[in-house]
Order: sequence, then C-alpha cells, then structure tokens
Amino acid sequence: MKRSFVNAVIRDGMEFFQEHRFLLPPFAYFSPDDWRSRTADASEIFDLKLGWDVTTFGSGDFEHTGLLLFTLRNGLGKTYPKPYAEKIMIVREGQITPRHFHWHKREDIINRGGGNLVIELFRADPVHNCLDNGEFIISVNGMRKVMKSADKLILHPGNSVCLEPIHAHCFYGEPGAGTVLVGEVSMVNDDSADNCFVDGVPRFDPIEEDEPIAFLLASDYKNMRLV
Ligand SMILES: [Fe+2]
Repeated sequence: MKRSFVNAVIRDGMEFFQEHRFLLPPFAYFSPDDWRSRTADASEIFDLKLGWDVTTFGSGDFEHTGLLLFTLRNGLGKTYPKPYAEKIMIVREGQITPRHFHWHKREDIINRGGGNLVIELFRADPVHNCLDNGEFIISVNGMRKVMKSADKLILHPGNSVCLEPIHAHCFYGEPGAGTVLVGEVSMVNDDSADNCFVDGVPRFDPIEEDEPIAFLLASDYKNMRLV
C-alpha cells in the first residue's frame, strides 16, 4: 500500500467523521513534526498503538477488502491497567473485513450511523483455530438470538452485537445503503496477536513510501521513537 494512498484515505476519513459529528482526539491531526515535539509525553499513545490504522488485509484492493480504524483507548498489563478498549471505524459499501475471530477479546460492534453493516457469522472453534458448524447463540441489541454458520446479521444505525471468541465474523457495508460509521467497545485489544483470520490473510500491509507521511499510522510509532 502506497503512503500517498494511506494519506488520502485518512483525509477522507477525517471528513466522514466530521460529517457524522464524531470528534477525534487532538493527536488524530498531529503532523510528523507535531509528534517529534511531543514524543516525551506520548508514551501511552505509542505503547497502546492508539490512532490510525489503514489496511487492505494484504489484498492491495482497499475498496473491496479493507478497513480504516482509529483506536481511541486501550490497556496493556500493569502499566496501563484499563481492561477495555474502544475503536471507531469506517466501512464502505461492499468493503469486506475478512472473517476472523479473537481468541481473547470480546467485542461489541455498533452501527453508529450512516449505512447498514452486514455481519456474516460463523461458529468458531478457538481451541483448534478453525470453524465449526451448527447453531450458536449471540446477543443482538441485548436480545438473545439463535443463528447458524454463514447467517447474516444486518445492523442498522443504533444496532449492536456482542461478538465472543466463538463468533467468527466478516463484515461490510450493505451495497446501496452508504458508508457506515462503526464503533467497537471491547476488552483490551492486541491486533498483533489476537486475530485469527481463518482464511489466512495478514492483518497489516507493508507501506511503500512514495510521498511524505501526512498522518502517522499506529504502526509508524516504532520508527518515530528512534528519531
Ligand atoms: Fe473482530
């Protein structure tokens, strides 16, 4: 993924958040120079990898397989003992986040506005790192619902679902209904070690530096600290 593309996707994302009155923290808008002058005070942001995350899950085709995320809060061990995390995401029509489950994290996925979010659900076997067939129970808007693998759930604005480790999921914006503002409230998040993509896709893309960084991705912080 080219840096010029990452910069453009983040700029588009900022506009979308603004349109939906979802206000981001100040560091969302920091330039690399802003970060350089604040590194001494930004350890929590660096350590917890808060901030921007743009991925095509290795596809190179963001429109069809990709996601823009911003991690707002997180925890890590004794230094940052928050047991919870929060993200905000932008999901375009037909833009797939490939199916995966989390061994540890329990997450509520919330449609916070815009279009409709389609979630395809599969029963997972987190002990054996595979999918399982059969029915399962899931909580949708606080209501118990019985589903079976490959069933679709459509979350309209205001709707949410609680995904547990046994709930493998892929999601995308419903075609024709518009881009979706998606929230996630969860247990602590570790994207480097708590995603099992059952079809084997990678979580992060390598970045090709074809223009200067406008806004750092969370995955860029490791380089900032060496500056
Ligand atoms: Fe997930």
